[in-house]
Amino acid sequence: MRKIRTNLINPVSADQTELFKDYIISIEDTVITEISPFKPDITEPYEDRRNEVAIPGLIDIHVHLSQYRMRGSYRPALLPWLEECVFPEEERSSQRQYAYSVSKDFYPALFRAGTTSAVIYTAPYREACEAAFEIAEDLGARAWIGMTLMDRNSPEGLQQTTDYAVEHSMELYWKYHDKTPLLDYIFTPRFAPTCSEELMRRISDFAIENQAWIQTHLSENRDEIRWVKELFGYHSYTELYQAMGLLTDHTIMAHCIHLSDKEINILRDSGASIAHCPDSNFYLKSGEIDLPGLISQDVKLALGSDVGAGTSLSMLYHAKLMNYRQTAFPVSPELAFYSTTLGAAKLLHRDKELGSLNVGKQADICFLKLDDDLGEQVLPIDEDFLGKLVFFGSELPVQETVIAGRSVYQAPSSR
Ligand code: GUN
Ligand code: ZN
Repeated sequence: MRKIRTNLINPVSADQTELFKDYIISIEDTVITEISPFKPDITEPYEDRRNEVAIPGLIDIHVHLSQYRMRGSYRPALLPWLEECVFPEEERSSQRQYAYSVSKDFYPALFRAGTTSAVIYTAPYREACEAAFEIAEDLGARAWIGMTLMDRNSPEGLQQTTDYAVEHSMELYWKYHDKTPLLDYIFTPRFAPTCSEELMRRISDFAIENQAWIQTHLSENRDEIRWVKELFGYHSYTELYQAMGLLTDHTIMAHCIHLSDKEINILRDSGASIAHCPDSNFYLKSGEIDLPGLISQDVKLALGSDVGAGTSLSMLYHAKLMNYRQTAFPVSPELAFYSTTLGAAKLLHRDKELGSLNVGKQADICFLKLDDDLGEQVLPIDEDFLGKLVFFGSELPVQETVIAGRSVYQAPSSR
């Protein structure tokens, strides 16, 4: 049992956030058991952390673990970047040792950034995916993890046979889906150009039957879209995925920048969600997502870092970029914060347990330091606090990250 005297900031909806100054938050086992105003007559011992703010553990709904070490390897567009930077790096994870060492770097980096849940791509090797699960379990991460699938148009060292891709995905699903409460498997066809119709159909048949998670990339780059048209000939990229059975309410589609109105409607009606990755979209000059259009059509959407095209694991940095990467649409701090907390949890069908700090929910918490090293209060908890959190929160030191009640990171100064 822990009792912590601190401040809290809590998303309520896409346009409402609550602020609680000087509260007690109690954690028992994996769960939050109390959130109440601090009372001076308290008799139990508590941690005094009034110089911090507790926020819900951040959620990254699209990140490539096996690309963690190649962030910043620059090429001017998606397809040359994949060919010249990503594929050679992912091929390194065919070596067991390398795959383990990337996983051992990756999760602590997530925790240092205050991220408590992540939806993860690995590489097209079963062993690399197993390494990601094993290290996640050891370190206490909450994650949805998938083996990347690619059975055509891929370099020799990466390309799988269709049977390898399907059979190992299913075995990984059965091995990890129910193994621990914190981890799940997600089927991960890389994107249409590297997947055969047979692969996509076999994956979606299984996923639909088992209500399993699916993730892929959709409509990120104009050359990619042209290539999909040449390869498959469907009227649109979204209609191809629809015909393959990949659009379900357990599907996360990364990017979705260049969708027509018809595609937006298909996506919304299917219940699939979008992982919006603003940093990556501008890094690769992929384009500007139509946020107002997608929001007005009620498409579900949350934020992903898309590391390694994304350059940072800090979801507060990506929350800021959600605003900065819109030329004219003023994304509110409430919406940006919601998109990496409660909105992301909702999209994952886990908003009853995750995404905000409430009694009965999982204790997934990030504590940020508000004062400087001399103990001066640098950031007052006032009505402007949320804007400050979104626009420069990535500069605030993460003091501690807690997942399901377990402390997975403590800043060196606080240990
Ligand atoms: N499309 C297919 N693979 C990838 C990838 O690894 N990163 C991004 N940003 N887009 C992709
Ligand atoms: Zn991606």
